[in-house]
Amino acid sequence: MATAAAGVAAALSPLSGCDYLSSTDCSATETSALLELAGQLKHGDRRIDLGNRVLGLIFTKASTRTRVSFQVAMARLGGQTVDLNPQVTQLGRGEPLEDTARVLSRYCDVLAVRTFAQQELMDYAHWASVPVINALTDLEHPCQALADFLTMQEAHGDLPGQTLAYVGDGNNVAHSLMLCGALLGVNVRIGCPEGFEPLPGVLEQARSLAQHGASIDVVTDPREAVQGAQAVYTDVWASMGQEAEQVQREQAFAGFCVDEALIRQASSNAIVLHCLPAHRGEEISPGVMEGSASRIFDQAENRLHAQQALLAAVMGGL
Ligand code: CP
Ligand code: NVA
Repeated sequence: MATAAAGVAAALSPLSGCDYLSSTDCSATETSALLELAGQLKHGDRRIDLGNRVLGLIFTKASTRTRVSFQVAMARLGGQTVDLNPQVTQLGRGEPLEDTARVLSRYCDVLAVRTFAQQELMDYAHWASVPVINALTDLEHPCQALADFLTMQEAHGDLPGQTLAYVGDGNNVAHSLMLCGALLGVNVRIGCPEGFEPLPGVLEQARSLAQHGASIDVVTDPREAVQGAQAVYTDVWASMGQEAEQVQREQAFAGFCVDEALIRQASSNAIVLHCLPAHRGEEISPGVMEGSASRIFDQAENRLHAQQALLAAVMGGL
């Protein structure tokens, strides 16, 4: 066990002091090591005490899982969290980001930011002198992807060569699944209606990063996407900030519900994943959500373990 811990610590040492703004901020080796450490923390094989470090949470959008899992992860590392919701700080009254980021860096050891534009997150990272973590932007949700692939690994073992099918909007969650999946050697198939594809630049980036010959594909037929897949994943059709498009999107995504008929096209041992929150009867049927293939609540739990590993790595606590 000591050797395994030393191997993980060595693999993760380059992350000390680094930002995690995108799934691509970790190498393939580092991503695998984060999953290994997350598993060790989950099963009590590792205990890490960082000695009263402080995480600042700057969340411009709502959150249940990301917020609470970061808070609990930090508590388990012997630290604490301060909630810096822009509505209650001077940010909400127009204090510049560059001043806010520099001031908060004098109090906090790490910042997790949830916002709209990836550029705003990058601006925080530029001005902060402590590591900045992407807690979701419109472009990516890299912490989610770590938990997702940890869940897939728990269900099916070694990830290279497995296939994850994502059915729905080519959004932030899809982007991080493509990038993180590519690094881990997982084939990722995105099934989405025309006009809702992931960004071409992200597709190109994922393909260029792909390990172990993994393929990253985008198709417009949900049945083709899930064919033989070991995991079937979906997310809401209208993300935060897109509420006004809800009705139009419900029409565009007709036929893209992850239901019993669709998962019959996947591998017989396929698991079902959803980042949550879910809209039952839209992107996922109530039966699939609660069915025997669902690992959705394990996946939500794994946010805690994956982020605990990430926090320990960026704060150099291994
Ligand atoms: N999956 C996820 O990020 O959930 P929250 O929006 O509740 O944080
Ligand atoms: N794509 C969703 C994910 C929520 C966790 C959103 O951005 O709202």
